[in-house]
Amino acid sequence: MLSLSSICNEIKGCKKCDLHFSRKTAVCGVGYESASVMVIGEAPGSNEDQTGIPFVGRSGRLLDKMLMDTNMPRESVYISNAVRCRPKVGRAPKITEIRKCSPFLKDELNIIGPRFIIPMGNSALKSLGFVLKTDFGRVSEAWKKIYRINDMFIFPQFHPAAILRNPKLFHTMKDRFDLIRNFREDFENNKSWDYLNEKYGIIKIS
Ligand code: URA
Repeated sequence: MLSLSSICNEIKGCKKCDLHFSRKTAVCGVGYESASVMVIGEAPGSNEDQTGIPFVGRSGRLLDKMLMDTNMPRESVYISNAVRCRPKVGRAPKITEIRKCSPFLKDELNIIGPRFIIPMGNSALKSLGFVLKTDFGRVSEAWKKIYRINDMFIFPQFHPAAILRNPKLFHTMKDRFDLIRNFREDFENNKSWDYLNEKYGIIKIS
């Protein structure tokens, strides 16, 4: 039967693309099975490739801060990636790599059933798009939007590495995480759909 540990075993043994040749460790998602929030990153960097744990380098420290500041400590969310093996230094994953890795994300989504999803950066958005059969476009446009698909709300967001490269984006990211916190509070306080729609302008994708 499918479980987070069986998915992780598959990830560890995966050879579906060339990234497995150079990986030290394939990186599985982490977090608890009934997390209501799922965060999706791009791909492991060197710290993650060494440790097998997602978001443990500089980007991870920034992400931890954002999560902590908005009442979503790392322990309370599920953290995953578009691609589970480290691409060669400095390059983003290719579309073919993202596509081949996306069934793992699909399986995780099916098990966890998160209510709120935060895809960070273009690779995460692409991967989620493959799973949900939706074209979310580029994060430079999508970060201002909130999508609803079935019972899930999707908050595209810049990748923390983009903020480290361009610190002017820090407040954009912070404001967005604050909005996600407010949205969750409103949602959990059973605010009506009309109220949420009016306040946040949600784009419903059937
Ligand atoms: N670490 C990850 O696990 N994913 C990223 O996208 C960046 C750093």
